[in-house]
Amino acid sequence: MRISIQHLTKIFPSRTKGGEAVHAVEDMNIEIPSGQLVGLLGPSGCGKSTTLFMLSGLESPTSGKILFDDQDVTTLAAEKRGIGLVFQNYALYPHMTVEQNIRFPLDNMRIKKEEGNARALDAARLVQIEDLMSRKPNELSGGQQQRVAIARALVKMPNVLLLDEPLSNLDARLRLQTREEIKRIQRTTGITTVFVTHDQEEAMSICDTMVVMKLGVVQQIGAPQDIYDDPNNLFVANFLGTPPINIFKGYTEGGKVYIGGEAVAEAPASCGYENREVYVGIRPEGFIYDAEGAFTLRVDHIEVMGRDKSVVSVHECSTKPTVRSIIDSDVMLPPDAETLRFNIKPYKLFLFDAETEERLR
Ligand SMILES: Nc1ncnc2c1ncn2[C@@H]1O[C@H](COP(=O)(O)OP(=O)(O)O)[C@@H](O)[C@H]1O
Ligand SMILES: [Mg+2]
Repeated sequence: MRISIQHLTKIFPSRTKGGEAVHAVEDMNIEIPSGQLVGLLGPSGCGKSTTLFMLSGLESPTSGKILFDDQDVTTLAAEKRGIGLVFQNYALYPHMTVEQNIRFPLDNMRIKKEEGNARALDAARLVQIEDLMSRKPNELSGGQQQRVAIARALVKMPNVLLLDEPLSNLDARLRLQTREEIKRIQRTTGITTVFVTHDQEEAMSICDTMVVMKLGVVQQIGAPQDIYDDPNNLFVANFLGTPPINIFKGYTEGGKVYIGGEAVAEAPASCGYENREVYVGIRPEGFIYDAEGAFTLRVDHIEVMGRDKSVVSVHECSTKPTVRSIIDSDVMLPPDAETLRFNIKPYKLFLFDAETEERLR
């Protein structure tokens, strides 16, 4: 099922008299090809759940349209949209067994018992919990409960699967494992899936396409790697990547990019030779150690991490307390150096207008 989101807007009236209305989602436009796993990513409160609720029919838009294939479903009732929903809290019925929980959505439809059982078993197999069918939810781990919730969403064979922070209640190890599970299930079923998360690593690791949001407004849409390598603005650059990108106050002059007094890169053509204030973003992996390098950092300490090492330093132009540079572990650094010099890989350095915070290319 293809999903088309057109000028979708949701404005909640103010909760207090005379207060301001909340623009939860503003003029959102997204085309989701059939069979894709799309991530809605952004900090808490940016409108992810509201978007998902509008897709599901639980919330109605203030304006704009939603199409499933060519059908306009904007005002269609939730139960007629053929949607599977999974939330952060698994919302299983505690008095029912796993099997009863999974089969529950079918019990309201006119489906014969044998067929219902067979479909419940298929869904359970897909999420690999078929051995747990007679257990009650409180006899399951969080990860297993979330699988039951996913099986319950799948049992109706939905056209669209909507997942709202489905991994947030799981511990770190289970979160990793379950996100791979979700990817596998999505691949196997080919169901068009929208996956909401505030965790950029989670979105990057499993999504075909990511939609990065801020305050109800889409900032960028694209493949995870493409957005990471080519962010549209400072917010997106900052939001993606662990450890996060380093940001410096800088300026351009005579065709060069300066941080402090040091020219660290060529300025992009769009800046011309004009003098302007910019933010300079440098990814942690963008530093090449060089005793004669263009950019000097004052070393605080070095963390050894096996595969690579992380030089933690300070710089007066950094907008963050420390600067992090990731260097291959086989690069020999002078011991106990107070300062280290680096060259910057040009494709790991991004410039942003100091006022608008938009990317300068
Ligand atoms: N029913 C509601 N009434 C008023 N404001 C709401 C309601 N639901 C959400 N909001 C507001 O809309 C914004 C987006 O919320 P939400 O979609 O839940 O964000 P997210 O899921 O990204 O954390 C927030 O500012 C939130 O407070
Ligand atoms: Mg939410």
